[in-house]
Amino acid sequence: MAPEESNVALPFSEACERNKEPILAALSQWLAEGNRVLEVGSGTGQHAVHVCRHLRVVWQPSDRTINLSDLRRRCQIEGQTNSHLGWLLPPVELDVLQPLWPDGPFDAVFSANTAHIMPWNAVPRLLEGSARVLRCSGLLLLYGPFHEGGHHTSPSNAAFDQHLRSLDPAMGVRDALELAALAADCGLQAIDDVSMPANNRLLVFRRVAAEESEPQP
Ligand SMILES: C[S@@+](CC[C@H](N)C(=O)[O-])C[C@H]1O[C@@H](n2cnc3c(N)ncnc32)[C@H](O)[C@@H]1O
Repeated sequence: MAPEESNVALPFSEACERNKEPILAALSQWLAEGNRVLEVGSGTGQHAVHVCRHLRVVWQPSDRTINLSDLRRRCQIEGQTNSHLGWLLPPVELDVLQPLWPDGPFDAVFSANTAHIMPWNAVPRLLEGSARVLRCSGLLLLYGPFHEGGHHTSPSNAAFDQHLRSLDPAMGVRDALELAALAADCGLQAIDDVSMPANNRLLVFRRVAAEESEPQP
């Protein structure tokens, strides 16, 4: 990294700062020491750094090209100053609409606040790609605001949905039941739905073996 580059302030998300602790607490229930985790849409990298400060998991951050250089900078700077971050890997490029994903198998795929930002046509790609890189019984952990069966779950989520759609009709708060149905089509079974602060949720899916997802006679 050029010296002048390291002096430029890193992008910082207030929301991420607020929710990183509850997210860490929830993830710690699902991840085990040594697990290999792919994070999709790492953004500023604040979750990646925070998780690696507290859990001994091999964390692979990723994002689209547009966010990659700042994400790499945060991971590099934090890694240099914090020896606990040895298990935080250099971020890689990943756009879920592109076929090239990092090599699995991963024990878990984690993604926070991405499903409502990426266009709707990218959401099935997120689920399919996750299923492809997860080991059998591996977990997809999706954090964010979600509707339920076509209904808003809070006035703040309804307002947020409206705001997103006014910016871009392809964005919007996704429906947990719709996601569960799409996920089932790619061999991901919804196994838990954890309530999180501020009307957010952590949706948990498990990759089932092909024979488990086939209908029984
Ligand atoms: C609101 S930010 C969330 C960032 C971070 N995960 C967090 O919780 O603070 C949405 C993220 O989704 C990513 N994203 C949007 N479309 C994507 C796509 N097609 N593939 C991968 N990531 C995508 C963006 O680049 C951005 O990092």
